[in-house]
Amino acid sequence: MKIGVFCPIGNNGWLLSENAPQYQPSFEMNKQIVQRAEHYGFDFALSMIKLRGFGGKTEFWDHNLETFTLMAGLAAVTSKIQIYATAATLVMPPAIVARMASTIDSISNGRFGLNVVTGWQAPEYKQMGMWPGDEYFAKRYDYLSEYVEILRELWATGQSDFKGEHFQMDDCRVSPRPQAEMKIICAGQSDTGLAFSAKYADYNFVFGKGLNTPTAYADINDRLKAQTDKTGRDVSTYVLFMLIAAETDDEAFAKWQNYNDGADVEAINWLLNQGGKDTKSGADTNIRQMASSVSPVNINMGTIVGSYANVAKMLDEIGEIKGTEGILLTFDDFIQGVEDFGQKIQPLMKCREHIVVEGEATQIPVLEKSA
Ligand SMILES: Cc1cc2nc3c(=O)[nH]c(=O)nc-3n(C[C@H](O)[C@H](O)[C@H](O)COP(=O)(O)O)c2cc1C
Repeated sequence: MKIGVFCPIGNNGWLLSENAPQYQPSFEMNKQIVQRAEHYGFDFALSMIKLRGFGGKTEFWDHNLETFTLMAGLAAVTSKIQIYATAATLVMPPAIVARMASTIDSISNGRFGLNVVTGWQAPEYKQMGMWPGDEYFAKRYDYLSEYVEILRELWATGQSDFKGEHFQMDDCRVSPRPQAEMKIICAGQSDTGLAFSAKYADYNFVFGKGLNTPTAYADINDRLKAQTDKTGRDVSTYVLFMLIAAETDDEAFAKWQNYNDGADVEAINWLLNQGGKDTKSGADTNIRQMASSVSPVNINMGTIVGSYANVAKMLDEIGEIKGTEGILLTFDDFIQGVEDFGQKIQPLMKCREHIVVEGEATQIPVLEKSA
């Protein structure tokens, strides 16, 4: 089972709560997290792109670094871990993204890959006059398909004359081409998103579901399999979970309760409102999962709360699900969370038995958190 860290590129990570750790995103903080993750044998680090926050008392995600430049920096200060950035495809032309990917491939010596997203939150794009209108919701994966065809063509041959509905290339060139095969990931949850991943992606990322129900998301693997049966491609699932761990279950649940007690209602209302806007992608759209009212305090991502031993056990259950190849982790407190995972959780996991951590940490570097 592969393990990755979802870099806190925006303020306060993934908790919309006044009681959660309050911090600004910075290169130094992400560097510490990713270097320590690499030390503990994490397989990859991914950062999202977010161009407009949700506001509220915590100014949730009003402060966000840019994903390619952040990951280029992280590529330069790591040596083994895979590095993924996210292309905001509505506002970044494919030929530029292809070239940036080649550049980070060079910086990382072949460790770079790309997450491609259609975008789901119109204000991110409207603020720059680049939202194509709400009819875009219905064709976002057609748009993304053309986009990825161009990327693949440029990386494979260095040249593209692609002509489609959304893009027209005219002897477009990109060189140097990446030295390693460029992996593409997508996070499709809707049937159209899954069909896209089955055709174009190497891995599909999905939201874990519920509280301490590590296998509740598993039916999406069957839905993905139905799509890959049509394309004949091998695309595995990576699932996203937030870990809230402590010495005892009680202690961990007390933290989770405290975050819920401090929920930033204003930021959550923004999320609920924006997440409900896509009425075009069909009833299956899981953008609505992000915006469901069940657990908006952490954007409805699957949540695993408990003692280190119980968290390890639940992560092992995920490891048993057919079609799942990896877990993407967020933490309530990323710096401590990566240390606890590396020192107290991973050593108890059967599906991570093969990981050998060289030399133990003598001292965790302390990084000042800004408010
Ligand atoms: C791990 C992960 C990372 C994501 N990163 C981004 C992102 O950076 N920007 C974004 O607009 N959406 C992001 N999304 C949303 C997805 O791209 C996608 O739109 C969402 O999962 C809903 O699926 P659908 O598009 O098939 O409806 C992410 C989702 C997941 C699970």
